[in-house]
Formats: sequence, structure tokens, C-alpha cells
Amino acid sequence: MKKKKESHRIAASDDIEVSTYLELARELRGEQPVVEPKEPPGERETIVVLDFGSQYSMLIARRVRECHVYCELVPYDTPWEKIAPLNPRGFILSGSPASVYDADTPLPMSYIYESHLPVMGICHGMLAVANDLGGQIARGAKHEYGHTILHVTAEDCPLLAGLPSSLPVWMSHGDQIIELPPGFKSLAYTENSAFAVIGSDSGIYGLQFHPEVIHTAHGKTIFQNFVLRICGCQGNWTPANFISESVAKIKEQVGGGRVVCALSGGVDSAVAATLIDRAISSKLTCIFINNGLLRRDEPERVLNTFKRNFKMDVVYVDAADRFLARLKGVSDPEKKRHLVGNEFIRIFEEEAATLGKVDFLAQGTLYPDVIESTSAETKAAAKIKTHHNVGGLPARMRFTLIEPLRYLFKDEVREVGLALGLPEDMVWRQPFPGPGLAIRVIGEVTKDKLDILRAADWILMSEIKKAGLYRQLWQSFAVLTDLKSVGVMGDYRTYGYLVAIRAITSEDAMTADWARLPYDLLARISDRIVNEVPGVNRMVYDITGKPPATIEWE
Ligand code: XMP
Repeated sequence: MKKKKESHRIAASDDIEVSTYLELARELRGEQPVVEPKEPPGERETIVVLDFGSQYSMLIARRVRECHVYCELVPYDTPWEKIAPLNPRGFILSGSPASVYDADTPLPMSYIYESHLPVMGICHGMLAVANDLGGQIARGAKHEYGHTILHVTAEDCPLLAGLPSSLPVWMSHGDQIIELPPGFKSLAYTENSAFAVIGSDSGIYGLQFHPEVIHTAHGKTIFQNFVLRICGCQGNWTPANFISESVAKIKEQVGGGRVVCALSGGVDSAVAATLIDRAISSKLTCIFINNGLLRRDEPERVLNTFKRNFKMDVVYVDAADRFLARLKGVSDPEKKRHLVGNEFIRIFEEEAATLGKVDFLAQGTLYPDVIESTSAETKAAAKIKTHHNVGGLPARMRFTLIEPLRYLFKDEVREVGLALGLPEDMVWRQPFPGPGLAIRVIGEVTKDKLDILRAADWILMSEIKKAGLYRQLWQSFAVLTDLKSVGVMGDYRTYGYLVAIRAITSEDAMTADWARLPYDLLARISDRIVNEVPGVNRMVYDITGKPPATIEWE
């Protein structure tokens, strides 16, 4: 067994009180004592998820939200001064790519113990807690990765209530506990881990496996047990509560000011606009720019929904020619993105200027974007693509931002959209990139190519909807490749475009799998596209996941 780094080790001895370990831990890390929150607990119950860098951290936050409990995902070393105002009811510590043996391994701040709130450490989170509180950690004889069977031994353990006596769980770890900290019990084991679930009477729990991934059966029950039974949350984070809270907040923030909102046709900006309309209707103007890069019938559909159904003030700008002129001769994907993004900003500014004094700009920013931008400061991430969307408006625009969805995940936005009465087809619309069809026409974008792509895409979408698969797919779309191939139609040789079809399943677009569409459906789509779309004589189906491919082709 490799000797553990002294700097992280707090001497373990049975007769030292846990509080003494905490004192030592704080001293070693140079932390200040925790200040007790002076404010009485507010209305909103929050679970704080501390991110130690696991690829699954965002999934943990989503699982808590699925229990109808609000949570925030924050870096593991967030100081107590920022945590206290959240009124936390409990902490969840994520896994980490780091080993507790690493010199600079991320360790929890001492407030997670001193606040006396329930704690659930997952994988590295559990090892870090066990390490802090005087347990012994060792490198496992084997790296445990993938499915394994968990055997529950504890009786009457609130965290494992309702679980069968054995269940499949998902493991991914090298280190493991070999000796429990004082006051802890083993609650479940696996073949390779005697301490796969541990707990203490003071409400601190640890799981060696990952309950947040779908491969762990009953993961949802574990989260429900922790946040509802152990932390005592009520589960009152519902769309209706969110709507009334947000409407009140927007009224307060905006006062008598004027708001503009860019509609993209997608669910996020639609929900943001509808919320603001509820709060301050007459002070909101929406701007919808048709960039000529939308799917067939999209502009009409968006306008109808907002003008007729919601009676909102929508300024419609048909700028298709301006965008096409900008894109002339451009085939580099990143250049296309920048051109489309910049032109959008220019037109948006021109339109906003005609409205007189505007104080606020509303955006449909979602929580994953917020998390990504906070973690971007701490995590090195290679830039794959610049994602230019409405959120890419420049800081020099002199508006204050209103982002009513900045703490919501996509599925929550959809629930709120339904509760606000948005039509189902808008709420369940698949994500569509800001640069639109410009990044689905490979190579130079021309009006003719856009028309071919729109026709092929229309057939694909109609068939997917007819087959009842639209909602199950994260995205489904056609790509017009730059490639021509030889074919034969009747007695004639053809030389036409190759259309590619992409249909994927995903939870958050970070990773994706290609959808196993039925062969009959693929055959129907192919028949229709090559027969009904002039200029196309061949279709292929993209069967690449992300990674290694990305979702879009450009
Ligand atoms: P990739 O292709 O990076 O796409 O796997 C991930 C998700 O982002 C969308 N996407 C974009 N959205 N502007 C956007 O607003 C963009 O430039 C852009 N590029 C990709 C893509 O459709 C998928 O949902």
C-alpha cells in the first residue's frame, strides 16, 4: 500500500473526538472558523452540491431537481459566506478524477461538518469525508469500473429505505476505505468493497458507487431518501412555485423599465418571454429576426404563436438576404458562426435603437451554461466549437440582463413552458443551433442549397413525427453534404447531392448516441428524400456517437 501524503492526513486514533479532527483539518487548510448564519432560514430549501470535478456533477444536480428540490452546483471550495445565503438543508459531495493520494487533491471545506447538516459523499466525496474524519483509505487491489452488485446489510437505514436487498450499481473508482472513521457503520457492500455505503448517526453518509447515473438501479430512490427523508426537504420546487416566484422577481427588478427579448423560435427564449410578459406585459417588446437559415415554415409558426396565442408585441425582421449576402463565399464553419452571430447582433441593435429607451435585455440562459461559465475558470477545456446563440450578445450593449431561466435545466424549462400554457409543439421542440442551417449546409451556403436542405429536412421531420419518435430524440435533422455522387433514375444517369440524416439521443448534448431508428423508417425517409427532393440522389444515416463526433457536422 502506498503511503498517504502527510499533508492530507489527520492522525487517526479512536480516542480523538471528531471535533478534534475538524479543528486539525481546518488548521491544515488555513481555513477560518465557520460563521453561523444569522438570518432565519428562508422559504426556499436548497441542497448544495459541491463539485469536486466529476464528469457526473451536473447529473447529481439534475437528480436532486427531479425530487422537486432546488439545488445549486458550486465549486468544492466555495466559501461559507456564499453558501449560507442559499439556506442549505444538506450537502452532496461529488466524485472527482483526483485520488485522495494526490498532493493537490480537492478536499471539502470544514463547514460541511460544522454546520451539522446532512452530508452525502459520492465516490471521491465519500473517501474525502472518511479521510477527514479519521478513516483509512487505500488503493484498491483492482480498479472497479462498471456494473457490480450492491448487497444492503443495514436494517432501518433511511438512505437505503425501499431498496431491494441486492441491486446493480455503477462503480468507477481506484481508492477505497479499508478502515471506517470512528462513529461510522458499513451499510452495504460489494464484492470488492466492504464499505460500499457508510453512514454515521450524525447524518453523514458515503456511497462508493454513483447513484446519479442511469446504470444504478434505484438511484432516484437514494436521492429521494437523502433529500426528503434525511434532509427533511418538502419537495416544493414545482413549476407553479417557480412561476409565481419569478413573476414577482421580474416585477421588482424591472419596475417601470422597458425590456427587449430576442425570440429564437426555441423553447428557452419562448419561456423567458412568456414569463416576462406575465410580469410586465406592456413593457416587453420581442424581436424575432428571420435569418433565412430556419427550417421550413418556422418563421410563420413562431410569429403565429406569439402574436395570435399570446398577444405579445413582436417585431418581425426579415433579414434573410442580409445573412445570405454575408455568407457568400464562406465555407469555414467557425467563420460562418461568427458571421451569423455578428450579423444577428448588428440587426438586433438596429431594431432595439428604434424602440427608444430600453433598460433590460431578456435572455433564455439556462443553468448548464451558467455552470459551464463558472467552471470554465477552474477547468481547462479545449475549445471545440464557438456556440454562438442569442446568449452571445456583447457586453457593450447597454442593457441590464434579465435571465429568468438561469437556474433551470432544460427539462424544467419545458415543465414551466407547459405550466405557462405554451403550445406543446413549441415546448417539445428539439434544440436548434443559433447559426441554423448555415452549419448544416456543408461548404458554401447558397439559397438553392438551403432550399434542398429544407425539403429533405421537412420529409425527415414529418416521418419522425409520424412514427411518434420526435420527443424521444434529442435532435433529428438532415445535413446537405458537399459531396455529389452518381445515380440512376429511370433510364438516366444522375449526378446529385448526398444528404446525411442524423438522429441522436442525449441527456444534455454533452454526449450523445445515435438513435437506432427502425430500418423501415429509414427506408421510407430515404425513398421520399431521393424521390421528392430534386438534386438529391443518395442518403446516408450517420451512426457516430458523441464523442468522437459532435452532434452537428460543422
Ligand atoms: P455539438 O455539435 O457541439 O452540439 O455536439 C451540441 C449542441 O449544441 C448545438 N450547437 C449550437 N447551438 N450555436 C448554438 O446555439 C451553435 O453554434 C451551435 N453549434 C452546435 C447543437 O445543435 C447541439 O444541440
